[in-house]
Amino acid sequence: MKIFADPAELSAWTLSRRAAGARIALVPTMGCLHDGHLSLIAEARRRNAGEIVVSVFVNPVQFGPNEDYAQYPREAEADIEKCRAAGATAVFMPSPGAMYHPDRSTWVVEENLSAGFCGARRPGHFRGVCTVVAKLFNLAHPDFAVFGMKDFQQAAVVKRMARDLDFGIDIVVAPIVREPSGLAMSSRNKYLSPAERESALALSRSLRETSAAFAAAGGEMPWEPRKRAISAALSQAGLRPDYVEAADAETLEPVETLRKGCVVLLAAFAGKTRLIDNMVL
Ligand code: PAF
Repeated sequence: MKIFADPAELSAWTLSRRAAGARIALVPTMGCLHDGHLSLIAEARRRNAGEIVVSVFVNPVQFGPNEDYAQYPREAEADIEKCRAAGATAVFMPSPGAMYHPDRSTWVVEENLSAGFCGARRPGHFRGVCTVVAKLFNLAHPDFAVFGMKDFQQAAVVKRMARDLDFGIDIVVAPIVREPSGLAMSSRNKYLSPAERESALALSRSLRETSAAFAAAGGEMPWEPRKRAISAALSQAGLRPDYVEAADAETLEPVETLRKGCVVLLAAFAGKTRLIDNMVL
């Protein structure tokens, strides 16, 4: 497995592999890899990628000034071993200085799908995500890139960006991987105390209950009462809801009635830790 820190070296290598006919997959991550990330690498293998590049980069420009950039867990050595074991063929671990010129002044901005939900609560977040993902696309020259569905809005925004800017890269979105408790895997789960971890289960529980109620209602259900019930359940469990929303899974337009093809999107704080989860009906 190759390990690159220099963007130009990664680019030269992926270009040469492409020229030799290899199908290249990119799995963008911020490291601290868990089974959710490893499932993205497995998805790349399943799709017969000749080379699988995993980027491990805690991207400073997608964090707000009061967010957890400094504390974000970093486990470079363990990540390298996990990538090797999962069948990645290259890891890209640049420094922030290698990725961003001090006088950089260019951003990639998606203006529609990124406006609500996490975008509304984390100003500049998706601008940071789009910018780094565009840079990773330009450096890794992938045929396809694999993202996790836990970040539902991110996947939609990246798909739109790739389409609008003619990257010619397929965006593959892999299902959420959950712990046996139902908790969606996230590097930020590391921050949770045992009590917060218990509280956090209310997110996936609310989604399961919503899915059951939706099925019992015959596949159509007004959103507002359910939204109130979820907010109350999250608060009751000791979480501070950030948003409880339902939208069309394609357009991310908010809906008043839950129907097949809607997504329920949740964000809540467990202590200082912001967690997200979602479910497509
Ligand atoms: O989902 C993430 O870990 C990040 O937002 C990503 C896509 C790697 C960009 O920094």
